[in-house]
Amino acid sequence: MSLQLNEKEEATPGAKPDLWQRLLQVIYRQSPALFESIRGLPVNVYKSIYRTTAFPKTERERSEAFFNSFLLHIQPVKIQRHALRYTYTFGLGLISLYLFGILSVTGVLLMFYYVPSTHMAYQRMLDLSSSVSFGQLLRNMHRWAAHMMVATVFLHMCRVFYTGAYKPPREFNWVIGVILLVVTCFLSFTGYLLPWDQLAYWAVEVGTSIAGYTPYFGHQIKWALLGGRNVGQETLIRFYVLHVAVLPLLATSLIVYHFWRIRKDGGISGPEDDESYLERVGGNNGQGANWDWGAHS
Ligand code: HEM
Repeated sequence: MSLQLNEKEEATPGAKPDLWQRLLQVIYRQSPALFESIRGLPVNVYKSIYRTTAFPKTERERSEAFFNSFLLHIQPVKIQRHALRYTYTFGLGLISLYLFGILSVTGVLLMFYYVPSTHMAYQRMLDLSSSVSFGQLLRNMHRWAAHMMVATVFLHMCRVFYTGAYKPPREFNWVIGVILLVVTCFLSFTGYLLPWDQLAYWAVEVGTSIAGYTPYFGHQIKWALLGGRNVGQETLIRFYVLHVAVLPLLATSLIVYHFWRIRKDGGISGPEDDESYLERVGGNNGQGANWDWGAHS
């Protein structure tokens, strides 16, 4: 800070202290203790949140910072270099998470206007698009984020498969992922009915008819989804509750568990090192890894 606290010190000729500096000078003259606490405010606020020195320098200080703070300990203390390479994951898992965040925020805002009634739902959606400020934008953000999330979750699954990350010890996280994909598709399907337009009506008519052909339990599943024989008010309220409460809560819990498992499985997977490859294919005859794999990979 360029504040000149020593009154005897000569100010640079011609240079006028700005308003902020003058204010601080006045505070310092009145109460040095108050001045010190104002000056230390940013660092103290940082310390109160992260419980660590503002700029940890040593490895030990950095590790302590991660262990002592809830906000930091969500992230791993150490991460392998390849995990940061964008082309390994293409960030598809995180993009899916951010889209889920956008869907949650825009979804809550949409709930302020939407009424799950067969008499009002369609009209409410029309009003939202034409009379509410940014209503069309809100609706389109929700719709596009939903389409994109189905696509990114699917692509994320392809990436995981392509890099072989479904293998032990990550096999259970793959199972959690498959459930997440199903929940994402159900979120999309249940949301589709809510505008109560022709497209929504017939899509759900077709979807629930297909569910009716499930072996053994088809009739029960169709009845449970529709709440009766046909798509109507009972169906709308069921889809609404599933869409705004049951499925988002399920997805949130599964995502939290998915992330926790990634940490417990040792961070995200990576290319196999030479040692373990040779051990697996039995190629080193017990003489250690002396092949130059770098030339071939
Ligand atoms: C809401 C849906 C999902 C979200 C938000 C999500 C999020 C993530 C994130 C952030 C990662 C860290 C690495 C990365 O970004 O690629 C990850 C890894 C992983 N995900 Fe997902 N995921 C979802 C769905 C799925 C699905 C559908 C599958 C598979 C069926 C899956 C299986 C896995 C596995 C096995 C890993 C560990 C990958 C590795 O170690 O390289 N996830 N997920």
